[in-house]
Amino acid sequence: MWNVMKAELLSRIQDRSAVVGVVGLGYVGLPLAMEFAKAGFRVVGYDVSERVCKLLMSGNSHIQDVPAADVATMVKKGLFEATTDESALGRCDAISIAVPTPLSKTRDPDMKYVQAATEAIARNAHPGMLAVLESTTYPGTTREVMQPKLEERGLTVGKDVFLAFSPERVDPGNPKYHTKNTPKVVGGITAACTEVAVALYSSCIDTVVPVSTTEAAELVKLLENTFRSVNIGLVNEMAIICEKLHVNVWEVIEAAATKPFGFMKFTPGPGIGGHCIPLDPHYLAWKMRTLNYKTRFIDLASEINSEMPALVVEKVSVALNDERKAVNGSRIMVVGVAYKKDIDDIRESPALDVIRLLEERGAEVVHHDPFIPRFRDGDHDGGGEHKERIGVALSAAELGRADAVVIVTDHSQVDYQQIVDDANLVIDTRNATARASRGRARVVSLAADPKPAASAAVGTPSRKTTAVT
Ligand SMILES: NC(=O)c1ccc[n+]([C@@H]2O[C@H](COP(=O)([O-])OP(=O)(O)OC[C@H]3O[C@@H](n4cnc5c(N)ncnc54)[C@H](O)[C@@H]3O)[C@@H](O)[C@H]2O)c1
Repeated sequence: MWNVMKAELLSRIQDRSAVVGVVGLGYVGLPLAMEFAKAGFRVVGYDVSERVCKLLMSGNSHIQDVPAADVATMVKKGLFEATTDESALGRCDAISIAVPTPLSKTRDPDMKYVQAATEAIARNAHPGMLAVLESTTYPGTTREVMQPKLEERGLTVGKDVFLAFSPERVDPGNPKYHTKNTPKVVGGITAACTEVAVALYSSCIDTVVPVSTTEAAELVKLLENTFRSVNIGLVNEMAIICEKLHVNVWEVIEAAATKPFGFMKFTPGPGIGGHCIPLDPHYLAWKMRTLNYKTRFIDLASEINSEMPALVVEKVSVALNDERKAVNGSRIMVVGVAYKKDIDDIRESPALDVIRLLEERGAEVVHHDPFIPRFRDGDHDGGGEHKERIGVALSAAELGRADAVVIVTDHSQVDYQQIVDDANLVIDTRNATARASRGRARVVSLAADPKPAASAAVGTPSRKTTAVT
């Protein structure tokens, strides 16, 4: 019987008569829904947000990487609908789940979104249906959290329904790699589950990589993101080392990167942000704690990375001190509040910590970010007061008014020469001003000062121009 169901599903995938559901229409879910629709499937997007569904059904997009025209075309062709009605999932033959997997206040996995999504699917499940979890999570989630919920409804996974895990690897803002041309790893609960999930993704993703279990697939994603976290932690520690040795870390990294093998370039910065790197390794650390194992690399990298915003603020404080000014009462412009360059996502951004720490010391902080003209504190980091912040222009007047300009995110479209020309003091955490020529501002770069800042600047009047590193 299950072989018949598998053959039927495979055939419906093959001839595109299968209806594909996507649960959660955010950064991951919406691009995926568009790929399925482009491949010729009818796609049902289910999201609990009325606002998101209305916006999409009116042919708009809330995700930078998905053009509104794509959404509008798919809605018009009848290939895509967005709904808050979970019963629509009952019409689906295959469902991908891309709901949030945040951490709780105690930094443990918060599985409530995955649980709620699984329950919605289970209530609407029918024999022959495939469900694939894409949300980043700890190894064991698909088997331990999802499988029992589906089987409570009397459906046996691998026989009546198919269940798999396939980690999402989307890199928002990446001009080269998108959902379609990024290889996709897939692991099922049974071999039949893997087979149907591979068939589904092969219909719209160029390369699909099967692995033997859901746990292996879950761990692939955690290895990838832990790898990034640990390497960023290492290079941030190298920046701290270079600060102390008065060696330019950027020069060291660029020279090391000329080695054609055995070295991969990572760059230091003001800390890590986004929905993945700061959170995902904690999922693995938590899982290992339940097995009485302490993940030392993960914990150390996380510690170093989370200390970077405080280090930046200390650098601002010392730089202002060199100008005979205090943080308290200074006007500070933070340039770039997104968690990485050229995107509009502010979740977990280190800029939020830098702003908070500066304000705790009494600074008046304004921001400029071409991607984030305004934002509300606390909406993105799960805490704090909900204060509306409206960005200021990157004008000569605003730059000149600021006692210090702190470059936190190095968006490509920002004019760094203008900042160096019009600001008084620049603290550059990304080496963004490296190519700018000497200007009016004194520029202090993270781990790039040739000699101790204090001795270099004692007695110097403010607004003195020194070499841009
Ligand atoms: N953003 C990234 O760059 C990225 C990259 C790789 C993996 N991931 C992972 O993908 C998952 C989703 O992340 P995202 O960035 O797309 O999140 P997101 O917040 O952009 O989108 C999630 C969507 O799910 C909806 N939602 C929440 N609960 C729901 C429910 N029970 N049923 C239906 N919809 C629900 C929300 O309303 C929201 O629209 C996370 O596990 C994340 O770690 C994210």
